Amino acid sequence: MSQHSSSTLVIPEVSAIPRHVAIIMDGNGRWASKRMMPRVAGHSEGLGAVRNIVQECRKFGVEYLTVFAFSSENWRRPPEEVGFLMKLFLKSLKGEVSRLAESDIALRLIGDLSRFDLAIQEMVEFSEDLTANCKGLTLTIAANYGGRWDILQAMRQCLAKNPNLKPEQVSEELLQPHLSMAYAPEPDLFIRTGGEQRVSNFLLWQLAYTELYFTDILWPDFDEQELHKAFEWFSQRERRFGRTSAQLATHKL
Ligand code: IPE
Ligand code: IPE
Ligand code: MG
Repeated sequence: MSQHSSSTLVIPEVSAIPRHVAIIMDGNGRWASKRMMPRVAGHSEGLGAVRNIVQECRKFGVEYLTVFAFSSENWRRPPEEVGFLMKLFLKSLKGEVSRLAESDIALRLIGDLSRFDLAIQEMVEFSEDLTANCKGLTLTIAANYGGRWDILQAMRQCLAKNPNLKPEQVSEELLQPHLSMAYAPEPDLFIRTGGEQRVSNFLLWQLAYTELYFTDILWPDFDEQELHKAFEWFSQRERRFGRTSAQLATHKL
């Protein structure tokens, strides 16, 4: 088992401020359409929101922030929009990485990067290396990521490493270290902007006991105040992990 155990095996420590926040940044297209702008203008605007939220999370002492930038299903979009998103991805990596390093923020990418251009793959490697020793916050970008892909790739790695594994020997402990976020605790708080109440193939395994927060705010409008509202909501949740309220009350005494 890696340093972080599973919420279904060990009851995690809880705190008022989430250690790990995972966000589906949705609503860029609608933000632009409402202003009679092309959808892609919403993606550019969304980048500013990411910048603010990253810094605000760092300020609050969040240890891990994971954002969904491009899903394994987003290739189904019109080629012009996909092409724009790829250019924006490369441009923002180049433009932001030194600022991240200065802010002591480590950058990591999860997802099947093999489908991206070599220029993107190289820039990802450079950015991860440059920020590898940063300790203030770990920012993970999920790109060409899918929760099902993650579970399958973990299973494949697990079987490759243990070729004689019998079905009854397959366990969470063996699988977990191969999941793409094995380096982080499971998310405490999930935020989805844009009004939809679904998970859209994001961190399926890791969201087992995450608190789910949905807001109608479109991603480019999600600012520090909106993040504070989500934190406030989170601090009111009773995280029982299968136990009863009464058990929690005695536990606290
Ligand atoms: C989220 O915004 C960004 C990506 C999926 C890349 P959308 O582009 O999905 O915006 P809406 O949902 O169409 O408004
Ligand atoms: C989820 O948003 C993926 C990202 C934010 C990157 P979508 O807009 O693609 O989700 P669906 O298709 O509406 O569920
Ligand atoms: Mg959307």
